[in-house]
Amino acid sequence: MFETLTKAAGDKILALMGEYAADSRADKVDLGVGVYKDEAGITPIMSSVKKAEARMLADAKTKTYLGIAGNKAFGAAVLKLTLGDIVPSGRVRVAQAPGGTGSLWVLMQLVNRARPGATIHVSDPTWPNHMPIAENAGLRIEKYPYFDSETRGVKFEQMLGALDKLGKNDVVLLHGCCHNPTGANLTNAQWDQVAASLARTGALPFIDLAYLGFGDGLDADGYGTRKVVASVPEALIAFSGSKNFGLYRERIGAAILIARDEAQADIAQSQMLNIIRSSYSQPPIMVRKSSAPFWRMQSCALSGKPNWKPCAIA
Ligand SMILES: Cc1ncc(COP(=O)(O)O)c(C=O)c1O
Repeated sequence: MFETLTKAAGDKILALMGEYAADSRADKVDLGVGVYKDEAGITPIMSSVKKAEARMLADAKTKTYLGIAGNKAFGAAVLKLTLGDIVPSGRVRVAQAPGGTGSLWVLMQLVNRARPGATIHVSDPTWPNHMPIAENAGLRIEKYPYFDSETRGVKFEQMLGALDKLGKNDVVLLHGCCHNPTGANLTNAQWDQVAASLARTGALPFIDLAYLGFGDGLDADGYGTRKVVASVPEALIAFSGSKNFGLYRERIGAAILIARDEAQADIAQSQMLNIIRSSYSQPPIMVRKSSAPFWRMQSCALSGKPNWKPCAIA
């Protein structure tokens, strides 16, 4: 059967990492995957993570299944972190998912169930993995103007012009903060205009939030997400905890949906859980069933204290 296959295109970021490893020059700089490294080139484990892990090992009582939506306390903590109380909780549903990538995958599948073959508009350029995830979900991809290589900023007038032309069947993928790969971000005033445009056109905002807290701080980085979500009836958020919690390989993330009302939130959630069940079934367990101390470790990591310094957990 395999003779029918042709070789799939390699992942560009992983290929770049391979080229970096093979390059013998001493002054090389790794511009591949966005992972924190110290001066020695090590990605350290935060001491708070080590402590929490030791407690989890000691306290663990069971290895039974976690459930399709994952750990409920984790979901609630992510909602608090990303949205606060800007939308009534009845309109919001969340599922723990394997990293930001898993969250993107679940939500793009959900979009295709709601609007088969819908067009998802991504910034030009965007994180390269957005494209295969969208294609695998059956979505069409279009690009909206974003990065201006001369000013190194955002081509905002052109971006807004493109967004203003969209309609109800369109989905707009936005980087909530710390745009990857350009680092060019919207100002708060520009987010206000984007939110107003989405509210006017009815296009569905889909926010990729992979670096919350890594730009100007937790609160400042969440401005765009909160503004957009507060302005529109429906939205999707793919949250990643890989970078800001320093937990890359544990695959920590959450798929969040905001619906027009509680009844639609229930239906959309049932579809989201069905997508999860028929793929990886349940998210990985890294988190405890009860609240402490994992959340304290996370808020410690995100508290605005210098990153990666030992940070006490109670
Ligand atoms: C913009 C963006 N979205 C999503 C992800 C995926 O994050 P995760 O490692 O949690 O799957 C990344 C990781 O590099 C990213 O840069």
